Amino acid sequence: MKQLSKSVYYTGTLNPNMRVFDVIMRTEYGTSYNSYIIKGASQTALIETSHASFWDTFKEDIDSVLNGRGIDFLILNHTEPDHSGCVARLLQEYPNLTIVCSQPAALYLKNITNIENLKIQIVRDGDTLCLGDKTLRFINAPFLHWPDSMFTWLEEDNFLFSCDFLGCHFCEPEVFDTRIHYPEKYQDALKYYYDCIFGPFPTFVQKGLEKIKDLPIRMICPSHGPILTSREYIANAMWAYKTWSASKANERKLIPLFYCTAYGNTAKLAEAIRKGILRTLPNAEVNAYNLIEHTQDELAALLNSSDAFLIGALTINRDAVPPIWQLLSHVDAINIAKRPAALFGSYGWSGEGFANTAERLKGLKCKLFDEQFKVNFVPSEADLAAAEQFGAEFAKSL
Ligand SMILES: Cc1cc2nc3c(=O)[nH]c(=O)nc-3n(C[C@H](O)[C@H](O)[C@H](O)COP(=O)(O)O)c2cc1C
Ligand SMILES: [Fe+2]
Ligand SMILES: [Fe+2]
Repeated sequence: MKQLSKSVYYTGTLNPNMRVFDVIMRTEYGTSYNSYIIKGASQTALIETSHASFWDTFKEDIDSVLNGRGIDFLILNHTEPDHSGCVARLLQEYPNLTIVCSQPAALYLKNITNIENLKIQIVRDGDTLCLGDKTLRFINAPFLHWPDSMFTWLEEDNFLFSCDFLGCHFCEPEVFDTRIHYPEKYQDALKYYYDCIFGPFPTFVQKGLEKIKDLPIRMICPSHGPILTSREYIANAMWAYKTWSASKANERKLIPLFYCTAYGNTAKLAEAIRKGILRTLPNAEVNAYNLIEHTQDELAALLNSSDAFLIGALTINRDAVPPIWQLLSHVDAINIAKRPAALFGSYGWSGEGFANTAERLKGLKCKLFDEQFKVNFVPSEADLAAAEQFGAEFAKSL
């Protein structure tokens, strides 16, 4: 427990040993599940709970702050179980508390808790809740990062409870930004968290920043990682989010070709297609990448920021090969929809590599070029000329 102001307390739980979060994230610095108590003159609010496995620690901490007082409101800025995990247990202790959340959150909460007749107060953008001498104002923040996300603004203290926004997986036992022991690691964690959690939603990030930019923020109280109290750290996080979410159109059309090859045939096709694309679009940035020679992060970043892309999928044992699947499992599925894509490759007899890769690209809702360029075993000179033509045609379709 830490006291943030006369009536506001931090009651977060630390999870320093967590190494994977939400399946998709490495968490080498662990995390914290931040929660806060506001003791108003007449009523008390708890903001967020904790992960279900931290109930005992969480309860001890809130009990020490409450000191016999009840909880009137539980504010859930979104319903992901890292923060809503203790709701059911909490309701056993405080059956009369009212949950305050957004409309979609109310819907999700029914199926997250499986409790009938939850006492819920739905709040809309700009609604306020009075705790006597403290006023909470709710700010809709959809898709930051769930559809039900919102921020909570404490008017008298100028504290922003920002949900996962501006937070990070960084287990800082001293809690406050002024006492971060490894500032470069914090910055690392802030960026990685942004990439994984908010990267798919840049326009919502911009809208969220717009909503809070004129608030006289004194503290940012996120749901994970250090509480930001210094001007420097607050400005740093806001500036970083602004920069990272800014739309970045490529100066030159970026059209990477990704391929795998066991005997060099698919590689030859990649080179011929590359030439063909450049024939049509001489200013485009067109490079071919043999998947086993580059890191996953490099390849995924290229694919995600491309204007169009091609996959060279050979067939081995009736399928495309694992590096192709790995790459296509690291795409930003939210933003890759409608991205033009084309397939090519060499095969021996049955050629399932193409059909299976095509299915994946269709599943991702990419705009798949009608024609696929397949060659049986070794491409002849005529095949290579046709591959070049295929590249030129694909480029014309962009
Ligand atoms: C271990 C192995 C398994 C293969 N399995 C298939 C297969 O199931 N179906 C098929 O059409 N071709 C199969 N092939 C043939 C390759 O797709 C063919 O040799 C192709 O030309 C390889 O292209 P590359 O030179 O780009 O590696 C297999 C090749 C190898 C080496
Ligand atoms: Fe979340
Ligand atoms: Fe979270």
